[in-house]
Amino acid sequence: MRVFVVGGAGYVGSFCVRRLIRAGHSVTVYDDLSSGHRRAVDPQACFVQGDLGDRNKLASVFAEGRFDAAMHFAAYLNVGESVSKPLKYWRNNVANTLTLLDCLEAHGVKRFVFSSSCAVYGEPTELPITENTPRHPVNPYGSTKLAVEWIMEQSARAWGLAGVALRYFNAAGAAADGSLGEDHDPELHLIPIVLQVALGQRQHVEVFGTDYPTPDGTCIRDYVHVEDLAEAHLLALEKCVPGRFEAYNVGTGTGSSVLEVISTARVVTGKTIPAVESARRPGDPPVLYADAGAIARRYGWAPRYRTLTEIISSAWAWHCAYPNGYGSG
Ligand code: UFG
Repeated sequence: MRVFVVGGAGYVGSFCVRRLIRAGHSVTVYDDLSSGHRRAVDPQACFVQGDLGDRNKLASVFAEGRFDAAMHFAAYLNVGESVSKPLKYWRNNVANTLTLLDCLEAHGVKRFVFSSSCAVYGEPTELPITENTPRHPVNPYGSTKLAVEWIMEQSARAWGLAGVALRYFNAAGAAADGSLGEDHDPELHLIPIVLQVALGQRQHVEVFGTDYPTPDGTCIRDYVHVEDLAEAHLLALEKCVPGRFEAYNVGTGTGSSVLEVISTARVVTGKTIPAVESARRPGDPPVLYADAGAIARRYGWAPRYRTLTEIISSAWAWHCAYPNGYGSG
């Protein structure tokens, strides 16, 4: 298939592009490089630098491309910023996605795989989280992801979209060969921050809240390897059904606390990694982990990276090879 990948220079997007190419698909990456990296784009992909809000540019790329499918990774993802700047999030994450969907409809492109998030569940009332757990996002970031899911569901009914929303839990890790990894600026995610401490680039990691109702008092998350996420995208692309909207959790089903992440990283890196107790980060749900049974039953998907040690080891290899991210070397 010819696949149009918005945000293919970003963290999860770049892994998916590589996976698609290895599976024999041809890929055009469309990315404004506002947070993605040109060096992260697979050399076999065609690259177009462009803004998803630029309707004319998008239309001209579609007029030439004759695409069979699209994937969309180009959302803003800073939860805290979404609270202070909701309009910025609704404009990019929802309004710009409408522009993309307009293009898909106009050009008869029916297959669409969307990066959704466990943030659609907010503070879940049941664990593990299934796809039927009530969706009550607690921040604008999660609301924008849920809004796009609604638009996809209605588009499936109205014009036959074959839409799959993959609700990622916590994307983590790097390529087994150390060639692709996680490079955000500013970095806000736990694992890369912990590894920056291990590299001596930060003095310590702050532990946001130690009084949660969890065994060690810190938040629990489901860390899923980025290559396993890429595999889920490939399966969704190949198995999606015209006129049907599907949404799946993508996680390992295992929760790890902030302190468990830090202690595992100490073992993996052999470094001390000082940690400092800090106040809770507003909006953090205490516990999130997936029931990923639905995607296993539907696509036969299963995570290949099952332990935190494997995930953090792959991330550590990348951080050692590229201590300053894609700007290194
Ligand atoms: N944390 C710390 N110290 C840090 C950074 C994070 O203690 O310096 C804690 C957080 O409070 C949280 C856990 O580590 O309890 C994980 O935090 P991340 O920022 O790495 O990831 P989140 O769980 O906040 O991820 C959420 C959603 C994802 C969504 C992502 C967007 O779970 O679905 O925000 O950034 F994609």
